[in-house]
Amino acid sequence: MISLPTPNYNSKTSIENALYKRRSIRSYKNEPLAIEEVSQLLWAAYGITRKIEKGPAYIRGGLRTAPSAGALYPLEIYLIAGNVTSLEPGIYKYRPQDHKLEMILKGDKRNELCVAGFNQKMIKNAPANIVYSAIYKRTCKKYGIRGRERYVCMDLGHSAENIYLQAVSLNIGTCGIGSFSDIKVKEVLNMPKEEEPLYIMPIGKLKN
Ligand SMILES: Cc1cc2nc3c(=O)[nH]c(=O)nc-3n(C[C@H](O)[C@H](O)[C@H](O)COP(=O)(O)O)c2cc1C
Repeated sequence: MISLPTPNYNSKTSIENALYKRRSIRSYKNEPLAIEEVSQLLWAAYGITRKIEKGPAYIRGGLRTAPSAGALYPLEIYLIAGNVTSLEPGIYKYRPQDHKLEMILKGDKRNELCVAGFNQKMIKNAPANIVYSAIYKRTCKKYGIRGRERYVCMDLGHSAENIYLQAVSLNIGTCGIGSFSDIKVKEVLNMPKEEEPLYIMPIGKLKN
C-alpha cells in the first residue's frame, strides 16, 4: 500500500481557463510524471472531499470530487504506471478512502494495455494511464436498468472530466479512450469478474 502525497486544493488556474484550454492530447513529453501529479489527478477523479465515517457502508469513506447517483460510487480507478517518480512500474488500484494506491501487479504493462487498446500509441507512449472500470451492481441494485443504461456512465463522465480539467492546471495532457477490447483490458489489469472496463486515460506532460 502506497500513501499518496496530499493533494492541493488551490491553484493559479481558474476553472474558466481550464475549461477554455481543455483538449484531448495524444502525444506527450518523454519525461516521468511526478507522484505528486499522479496523486493530484487521482484525487480530482474521485477523491474524498467530505469524510463520512459512520454513514452507510456503500458510501465507502465519504462524498467525492465527482457526483454519483445515490452516492453509490460504482467506479473503480486503476493507475498503470510506467514512468512515475518514486513509483515502481506496475498496476495499482486507487483507494479514495485513504488516498492510497494498492499494488495489483508488478511490471510495466503499458505495451499490453496499448495492444488491448487497438494499438492506440498514446497508451504506451504516456508515462502512465488511468483506467476506469465500474461495478454496475452497486448502482443497479437501487436503480435497475436506468442505472445500467444511464447513471453509471453519467458518473464516469463527471469523474473523467475532472481529470481533463485538473490536467490543464498541471500542464499535463490526457485523452479519453473508449475504443478497446473489454476482454483484453480486463486480462491485462487482472480485473475481478464483476468489474467492467469503461475508459482509458493516458497522462503525460505537455510538449510545450
Ligand atoms: C466517450 C469517448 C470516447 C473516446 N474514445 C477515443 C478513442 O478511443 N481514441 C481517441 O483518440 N479519442 C477518443 N476520444 C476523444 C475524442 O476524439 C475527442 O474528445 C474529440 O475529438 C473532441 O476533441 P477534444 O476533446 O479535444 O475537444 C473519446 C472521447 C469520448 C468522450
